[in-house]
This record gives sequence, C-alpha cells and structure tokens, in this order.
Amino acid sequence: MGYEMIELTKDGSVATIMLDRPKALNALCGPMMAEVAKALEALAKDDAIGCVILTGSEKAFAAGADIKEMSDLEYLEIYKDDLFYNHEAIARFRKPIIAAVAGYALGGGCEIAMMCDFIIAADNAKFGQPEINLGVMPGIGGTQRLIRAVGKSKAMDMCLTGRMMDANEALAANLVARVVPLDELMETAKDASSKIAAQSQPIAMMTKETINSAFEMTLSQGVQFERRLFQSMFTTADQKEGMAAFSEKRKPHFKNK
Ligand code: CAA
Repeated sequence: MGYEMIELTKDGSVATIMLDRPKALNALCGPMMAEVAKALEALAKDDAIGCVILTGSEKAFAAGADIKEMSDLEYLEIYKDDLFYNHEAIARFRKPIIAAVAGYALGGGCEIAMMCDFIIAADNAKFGQPEINLGVMPGIGGTQRLIRAVGKSKAMDMCLTGRMMDANEALAANLVARVVPLDELMETAKDASSKIAAQSQPIAMMTKETINSAFEMTLSQGVQFERRLFQSMFTTADQKEGMAAFSEKRKPHFKNK
C-alpha cells in the first residue's frame, strides 16, 4: 500500500519508516500514526524483515503530538476513540526497532522514540517533554518510560520545567545508546540494524521480550522468565547452528527456526 505521511523503505532484511510531515516538524497526527501502525503490522508479518528503523528528518524526529489536531478535543470522544492507541503500536511491535533521532524529539516524539528498543541520536538531537507548557502532561507513556530511562530527578526536571536536553546530556542520562555526527546517523542505524537482522529472528525477539519484562516483573520473576526462555532456545535449530558455527570457527547461518 502507498503511504502519504510516512516513507517505508526496505533494504535487505532492514526496513526504515521515515516520518514525513516536514511542514509540521513531523507532528504525530492521527492519520500519520495510523500509517505507522499499518506499516508495523505489515512488517511484523514480513518474515524477510529482521529489524526496523524509525526516523524523521534532519530537523525533527517529531515535535510531538499534533497540538492543532488535539486542541479542541473533548474527553469523551478521545476516551471512546482511545487517543494514542496507534502510537502504542511501536511499543507493541515485537521485532527489534531502533529510533534514529535527529533534531527535535519533543513530547510524543520523545515518547515514541522511547518506545523503540534503543535510540541512536545525531549530535543535533534535542529531547524534551514540554507538555506542561500546553497545560497538560505527557500522555503517550512519557512520565513512565522517561523515569525508567533517566531516573526520577531528571524525569521530574524534564516534565516539570519542560526544558530540552541536548544529545550529550541524553547520552549521559542513558536516554540514548549512542550519539553520532548528523551525517553518520542513518549509516550507523543501518549498520546496527543489519547486525541485529543477521541474528536469529526468534532469538532476537525473545531477547527483546525478556529485557522489556524487567519493567514489569520483580528480579526473581524476571530471572525465572529469562531462564525459561533461555532453556526454550535449545529447541531451536538456530541455537544448534550458532554453537556449532563457533566450534567450527565459521559464521553462523541462522534460519529463524
Ligand atoms: N503540533 C502541531 N504543529 C506543530 C507542532 C506540534 N507539536 N510542532 C511544530 N508544529 C508546526 C508549527 O505550528 C509550524 O507550523 P506553521 O508553519 O503552520 O505555523 C511548523 O510546525 C514549524 O514550527 P515552528 O515555526 O514552531 O518551528 P521552530 O523551528 O520555530 O520551533 C519547535 C520548533 C521548538 C519544535 C516548536 O515548533 C515547538 O515548540 N513545537 C511544539 C513542541 C511541543 O510542545 N510538543 C509537545 C506536543 S503535545 C504532546 O506531545 C502530548 C503528549 O505527550 C501526548
């Protein structure tokens, strides 16, 4: 299917979703997020795709939820329509997904970047949860995911003052995994994605699921969950192949089985 507000490209086993509403700095309007959700649904079913990159433009990853679209909404209509359901498609996506962030990642932009498995930031990236300036607070998981990434003090600072954090502060605060020069952003994200996509897809998915379970479980439950999934990996041909390849001093050829 064709998309109007995003661009979906595939390069081997890596797919890239580029948010493409430059005039509105990629503000996350309903139609655009419906396209993102639809693209992710298709990529989830596409066995050839092992990793996804979510990105925006050099000026803006996304400057937040679409304020103009939201401003006159009433509680009951957004309750019934479950406002932001499609944004959560990124958190529901089960294959690895990397956010490649340049420019503004504000409000909902920061929130959807945090839904990705990790963030690679260009050196011009700016992160923030400025919703308080609009008389609201983050509403797409920002209060919950930011504190888990950067801890209480900085999460409070960001959400209560509404200030922006630059890429180096975001790196020091563990919000992002890496910072690279702007002109190396996509190459770095593609390189990381290709490495991930070359691994066994079910094993990468279970690894992601297990790491994410740490946010939902106690330590002993999480360790138990990890142990059971680790043990279950010995039912896969890819575990046999990976370990045989090590012994035979060759590269593994995973079959996603
Ligand atoms: N929603 C709708 N339109 C937006 C937008 C947004 N979040 N952010 C930018 N735009 C639009 C602007 O209205 C402007 O459109 P026009 O040319 O038609 O006026 C265009 O994008 C360019 O923006 P600016 O002229 O403001 O660009 P700038 O370079 O001067 O400033 C900026 C850039 C600092 C990012 C500024 O645009 C800004 O502050 N944007 C809003 C950021 C924000 O508050 N985000 C949070 C949104 S609420 C949210 O996300 C809620 C939630 O958690 C659920």
